[in-house]
Order: sequence, then structure tokens, then C-alpha cells
Amino acid sequence: MKPKVYITRKLPDPIVNKIKLSCHVNMWEEEDISVPRDVLLNETKDVDGIISMLTDTIDAEVFDNSRNLKVVSNMAVGYNNIDIEEATDRGIIVTNTPDVLTETTADLTFALLMSTARRIVEASEYLKEGKWKTWSPMLLTGRDIYGSTLGIIGMGRIGKAVAKRAKGFDMNVFYSNRSRKPEIEKELGISYSTMEDLLKNSDFICILIPYNPEVHHLIGEKELETMKESAILINTARGGIVDERALYKALRSHSIWGAGLDVFEEEPVSSDHPLLSLPNVITLPHIGSASEKTRLKMAELTAENITLVLTGKKPLTPV
Ligand code: DGY
Repeated sequence: MKPKVYITRKLPDPIVNKIKLSCHVNMWEEEDISVPRDVLLNETKDVDGIISMLTDTIDAEVFDNSRNLKVVSNMAVGYNNIDIEEATDRGIIVTNTPDVLTETTADLTFALLMSTARRIVEASEYLKEGKWKTWSPMLLTGRDIYGSTLGIIGMGRIGKAVAKRAKGFDMNVFYSNRSRKPEIEKELGISYSTMEDLLKNSDFICILIPYNPEVHHLIGEKELETMKESAILINTARGGIVDERALYKALRSHSIWGAGLDVFEEEPVSSDHPLLSLPNVITLPHIGSASEKTRLKMAELTAENITLVLTGKKPLTPV
């Protein structure tokens, strides 16, 4: 008998058909709605594997309910939606999708940095709303990117890819990280910094660390106060790393200059969230890895990982 797999969101047919060669598949058929909790619990009662999205909480309740479960294949590089300790205790393998999304997410991070600095969204709206009367010396002036100082919090794959882009813009790049990366420092000409100095000296600060409870609200009131008045904060990692109330206060009082946010403490963020009302913030709906090619690669890797485990082989990218 083929092993059973539940997929928590509609994936492209060719990918599902590939999984079907070795597994029996059930899938939540919606693209824009997460699977409701009760449906997830019901559908995963007797499965061997789950393909999950970052919007699904896969915790002890799911594991207790799903007695045959052997593998959870998450279609994301981040896996903070999965209780890894509970999975490990039960011998359940968890896989993610590193590497395939690195460059695409770095592109989006840099795009957000540039659009926040140069007020791209605001300028486009200004024109569309018919406000443009004439060219004017100080109209919609923003901040320079070239030659400025970038502080990257986290020097993993995406941090390195962002640093590479920044060097192309002649930026001075500093990073803070749990461990120093001398080979990257040498390769890219970037420097290690304490967190405090990074916050104090950077014109742009990009958050690129994985989320776990230890880094909850790593950027709060004190850290925002340490930043320059001209600083721009970019978060394409996870919303919980930034204290949104403190960020709102800092942006409103202009104690920092602007922010570009692709992620929020609660997603989807409500359209009446105070941060969305500020002119000095650009907000995106968690699209860091959202290019057609990359999302297909992520889906393929997710499918490959689950079929490998369920046919008795080693997954390509276990957590
Ligand atoms: C991930 O894979 O963790 C990203 O946040 C998805 O874009």
C-alpha cells in the first residue's frame, strides 16, 4: 500500500502528480485560504507525511493526532511554525527548503531597501493621485543608497547574498551574527560588529535571522532608540523579531526615518494595523521568495524531500 500524504495548500499539478507516483495524496484545494485547524487535524489522522506551509502550526497536537506520521516537509526555509523538539522526540523527520530561495529573497530585501529609501511607492501614488504639478528641487527626496552604511543582522545564506548586492552599490557593510564568518568578511570585504555598534552606525539595517523565541522582539524600544534618526529598518525575516508597537512609535515620532516590512507579528496583517497608516513605511504581504521560478523550485524540493523519506531514503534538506 502506498504511504499517505496530506498537502495543506494547492500545489501545481505536475508536482502533485510526481508525489502521486509513490504516495496516496489528499490536498487542501484552496490557494488563498489556509487550511482550517479542524480540517488539518481530521485530514492528517492517518497520514505518513504532511507537506506544510509556513502558515500551518505543526505542534504536539498534530503529532499526537497523527499516529503514523513520519515526515513533515515544510515549503519554506523558516520552520518556526513547527515544534522541532516535539517532532524530534517522536522521531518525525522535518525538512525545509534552503538554498533555492536565497537569491530571490535577497533581491526582494534589496528592492524593499531601495524603495523605502527612495520613496518609490509614495512617489507612484503621488503621481497617480494627480498631485504632480511641476518638477521641484526637494520634491519626494529620499536617502542615498550608494556609499551608505548597511548593518545586516544575521550572516546566513540570505545575509551573504544581500551583502554581495550592497557591495555593488559601494555600501560599507557590517554584520552581527552569533558567530563570526571570517571567510565571508574576506571574500566580500565586510566587517563584524557588535549589535550595539551596528544599530548606532547603520543607515540601513536588514534583519535576516531565523525566528525562535530567543529573538522575539530583538528589536524593541531600546534598540530603535539606539538607531540614527536617518535609519531605515528592513525586515524580510519574521515579524516576531520586531516589537511592532515600539516600531510604530519610533516611525511616528521620526526617531527613525523609515521601514520596509515584508513580515508581521500576525499574518495576514490586518488592513487597519497602525503601521499601515504611516507614510514612511512600505509594507508587503510576505513575498520574499515569491518569484515563479523560486516558488516552483521550493515546491519541487518539498515534494522530493517527502517522497524520499516515504520511500526509505534520506531527504535532501533535513532540518
Ligand atoms: C521562508 O521560506 O521562510 C520564507 O519566509 C518564505 O518566503
